[in-house]
Amino acid sequence: MPASHLRLGVNIDHVATIRNARGGRHPDPVRAARLAIEAGADGITAHLREDRRHISDADIERLKAEIAKPLNLEMAATDEMVAIALRTKPHAACLVPERRAERTTEGGLDAVGGRVELQPKIAALRNAGIRVSLFIAADRAQIEQAAALGAPVVEIHTGAWCHALANGHASAADAEWRRIREGAALAKGLGLEVHAGHGLDYASAKTIAALPEIAELNIGHFLVGEAVFVGFAATIKTMRDSMDRGRAKAAL
Ligand code: PXP
Repeated sequence: MPASHLRLGVNIDHVATIRNARGGRHPDPVRAARLAIEAGADGITAHLREDRRHISDADIERLKAEIAKPLNLEMAATDEMVAIALRTKPHAACLVPERRAERTTEGGLDAVGGRVELQPKIAALRNAGIRVSLFIAADRAQIEQAAALGAPVVEIHTGAWCHALANGHASAADAEWRRIREGAALAKGLGLEVHAGHGLDYASAKTIAALPEIAELNIGHFLVGEAVFVGFAATIKTMRDSMDRGRAKAAL
């Protein structure tokens, strides 16, 4: 069987980070989203944080109105964010943990500890036709809880694996990789669609693309950073190529 297409969701948060450094309109994350789609992105991901440090409410409205591919809204599971999602109706909502002091989304969502609060929010989003995913670590209990909560998708947090790879911690990277592989297989076996993201670069995206269970990667920081050197479109095309080469090795 030919390997299935692995979707690339391009996260444009850090285009907004650069814009906000000067408080003006440039660079425009919506323009970056359009360019990303032209260069091969299958969807656009944006995280509307509680403190609005990068993406703004107006960006989300414009992304929904102006881009031609699915919008994946990353959001904390709060009443405020659920209300925004229900109003905006993105294609998808990815529920993430959020702590004000963190620099990025540092850990996965605790679906087990938070199940009572998560359940009505997942139901409300699903009832509005929004595809819900939970951004979780590749742990058995979290994955099983995501399935029990009726989330159709899990996004596996690849941050610890990527961090270990980038810092040359080979045995930690191996252990994380095993956890990701086993988690992806478990989630798929439970009928969940499996996504992955955080900290991915060309090499790690190529490696993880070989896991046939994974349907989508969401990648942001590396793409925006690399764009400084070679341009956003070229970066996305190279990422697409890395993912395709990795996926060609998937044993289906
Ligand atoms: N997926 C989720 C759920 C995230 O929160 C993030 C970071 O915003 C990403 C993917 C992308 O991570 P990175 O910017 O490190 O590629």
